[in-house]
Amino acid sequence: MLPTLVILVGSWATLQADLLSDKKVLLLPPVNFTIKATGLAQVLLQWDPNPDQEQSNVDLQYHVKINAPQEDDYSTRKTDSKYVAPLHDGFAASVRSILKRSHIFLASSWVSAELKASPGSSGTSVMNLTCTTNTVVSSHTHLRPYQVSLRCTWLVGKDAPEDTQYFLYYRFGVWTEECQEYSRDTLNRNTGCWFPRTFINSKGFEQLAVHINGSSKRAAIKPFDQLFAPHSIDQVNPPRNVTVELEETSLYIQWEKPVSAFPVHCFNYELKIHNTKNGYLQMEKLATNKFISKIDDVSTYSIQVRAVVSSSCRVSGSWGEWSQPIYVGKKKLLAEWHLIVFPATACFVLLIFSLICRVCHVWIRLFPPVPAPKSNIKDLLVVTDYEKVAWNETKIEVVSYVEEAGFEVMENSMF
Ligand SMILES: *[C@@H]1O[C@H](CO)[C@@H](O)[C@H](O)[C@H]1NC(C)=O
Ligand SMILES: *[C@@H]1O[C@H](CO)[C@@H](O)[C@H](O)[C@H]1NC(C)=O
Ligand SMILES: *[C@@H]1O[C@H](CO)[C@@H](O)[C@H](O)[C@H]1NC(C)=O
Ligand SMILES: *[C@@H]1O[C@H](CO)[C@@H](O)[C@H](O)[C@H]1NC(C)=O
Repeated sequence: MLPTLVILVGSWATLQADLLSDKKVLLLPPVNFTIKATGLAQVLLQWDPNPDQEQSNVDLQYHVKINAPQEDDYSTRKTDSKYVAPLHDGFAASVRSILKRSHIFLASSWVSAELKASPGSSGTSVMNLTCTTNTVVSSHTHLRPYQVSLRCTWLVGKDAPEDTQYFLYYRFGVWTEECQEYSRDTLNRNTGCWFPRTFINSKGFEQLAVHINGSSKRAAIKPFDQLFAPHSIDQVNPPRNVTVELEETSLYIQWEKPVSAFPVHCFNYELKIHNTKNGYLQMEKLATNKFISKIDDVSTYSIQVRAVVSSSCRVSGSWGEWSQPIYVGKKKLLAEWHLIVFPATACFVLLIFSLICRVCHVWIRLFPPVPAPKSNIKDLLVVTDYEKVAWNETKIEVVSYVEEAGFEVMENSMF
C-alpha cells in the first residue's frame, strides 16, 4: 500500500513538473471564434482548436465566458456551444483553452466575439411584455390529447411613432411561429397576440423565447426578446367536476384533476370553504381529491378548489384559478327567495289594488252599474277569500321554501 502511494505521489510530481516547465504544454487560445444567431434569442458559438497546440498529451477543454447581455461561464470539451439569451442588446462572449488536473490549472489567453445590438432606440421597443399559457383539450385527439395556447400582451414603446406596427414570434425548441391573431390599440397597432395552439410543451424544461420586432416609416423599431420558463407562465386550469354533497352536518367534497398534460399524481389542491354567514374561512392544502368537512346547519357555505402542479413533477409554478363557487346550506335558498317573493308581492299588490278599486266603486264608475248589488257583494267576498288563501299560501311557501318545486306549486296556485 505504502509503496504504491509513494510511486503515485512520485509520478504526480513528475507530471506536474513536466506540465509547468515544458514549454510545449503552454496553452494556446482557440481560433476562428464566431457567434451566429441561429434562432430567436438563440446563438451558436463556434471555434477551432489552435492548430499549433501540441495535443497528443493534453486533455484540453474550453472555458466559455458570456459577457453580455448577462454574465455567465461554463466549460466544455466540444468546439461549439448553443446559448439562449435575449439578443436585442447584442451578445458578447469569450473563450479560452484550459487544462484542469487536480491541482493544476492552465489557461490560454481569451479570444472574443460579439453580435451587435439591434438598430433602433430602446424607447421604440415594446414594454411590459407578459405571456401566459393554458392547456386545453385538443380537438385533434389522434395527435396529442392536449394543446397549449399562448397569450401575450404588451405596451407600445413610448418613443414609437404612431405608424409603428409590431410583430410577435415565439420559439420553443426548434419550432418557431408567427402570431396570426393580434389584438390592436386605437391606432391599430398590435398590442396583444393569441395562439390557440402552439408547440409549447408545458411539461418541458426548455425556455420559451418571445421576439417582437416592428416596422415604421419614421424610425427604426428596436426588436425585443424575452425568455419565459414554461412553469412560471403556465396558468393551471381549475379542478373539474367539483361536487359537494351535504349529509346532515358533513360536507363531502370531491373533484377531478384539471385539464392538463400532467397526470393525476402531479397535483396539489387548495380547498376554500367560506362560511358566508360569519365570514369564517377554512383553507385546506391537500394532495388528494376529496375532503370531508363538518359544518353547522344554519350557515351557508361557498366551496372552491384550485390546483398547482406539485414540485415532484416540475418546478412549482403558481396556483391555478379557483373553480366556480358551489353554495350549500342556506345561500342557495336565499337566492331563490327573490324568485319567490317578487312574483308573490306583485300578485298581492295586484289583488289589493283590484280590491280597493272595487271598494271605491271604481268599477262601477268605469262600467255603468248593472242593477245586481247582491252578486257584487258576493264577488267581493270571493275575492277576499281568494286573496286570503293566496296570502296564506305565500306565507307557507316563504317559510318552507325548501324545495325548488315549491316555487312552481305556488305560482300555479296563484294564477
Ligand atoms: C479558420 O477559418 C479559416 C477560414 O474559414 C479556415 O481556412 C481555417 O482552416 C480555420 N482554422 C482552423 C484551425 O480550423
Ligand atoms: C410597465 O412596467 C414598468 C416597469 O417595468 C412599471 O413601472 C409600469 O407601471 C408598467 N406599466 C403598466 C401600464 O403596467
Ligand atoms: C421580425 O423577425 C422575424 C423573425 O426573425 C423576421 O422574419 C422578420 O423579417 C422580422 N421583421 C421585421 C420587420 O424586422
Ligand atoms: C365530468 O362530468 C361530466 C358529466 O357530469 C362527465 O361527462 C365527464 O367525463 C366528467 N369529467 C371527468 C374528467 O371525469
